[in-house]
Amino acid sequence: MVPTTSLLLLLGLALLAPGLSADQCVLTGSWTNDLGSNMTIMAVNNNGEFAGTFHTAVMTTTKEIKASPLVGIQHIKTQPTFGFTVNWNFTDSTAVFTGQCFVDTDGKETLKTMWLLQSHANSIKDDWNATTVGTDTFTRLRKRWE
Ligand SMILES: *[C@@H]1O[C@H](CO)[C@@H](O)[C@H](O)[C@H]1NC(C)=O
Ligand SMILES: *[C@@H]1O[C@H](CO)[C@@H](O)[C@H](O)[C@H]1NC(C)=O
Ligand SMILES: *[C@@H]1O[C@H](CO)[C@@H](O)[C@H](O)[C@H]1NC(C)=O
Repeated sequence: MVPTTSLLLLLGLALLAPGLSADQCVLTGSWTNDLGSNMTIMAVNNNGEFAGTFHTAVMTTTKEIKASPLVGIQHIKTQPTFGFTVNWNFTDSTAVFTGQCFVDTDGKETLKTMWLLQSHANSIKDDWNATTVGTDTFTRLRKRWE
């Protein structure tokens, strides 16, 4: 027989954290940010490693924007921190993102990120303004099972 206190404790935990379930914040799926950029992340492996594609809506170049590959790693736990690198393959730039996934009381996941973008400079003397920094907030574009 399960002691009543354990049952009450389990019930209490279930009521306290309706939004926090183990498979939330596994980054697999499609995400969109405040600027209308989208990223799709494929399966996250047991070590937290993943790959995907990033389709930016904005870029510091006049070249035609195309989807670019990303690779990253996340912690496997509730509200994990993560990082990934985007190799902008239609231009010669690279960006790194780091952030954390948060789940609100309704179970909605939000990725709060900060990024550094290195634009390709033609020489070391042109490097002084080549790095830009910013923030991005992502939400799910589609559920993983859709
Ligand atoms: C992001 O996805 C939305 C919805 O599918 C689409 O309307 C938008 O054009 C996409 N943005 C980019 C940059 O591909
Ligand atoms: C750039 O990356 C995308 C997404 O991974 C891929 O589909 C595309 O073929 C790549 N383009 C080039 C020029 O490597
Ligand atoms: C840096 O400044 C140079 C000269 O003013 C300009 O041509 C270049 O586009 C700038 N680079 C970036 C990444 O803004």
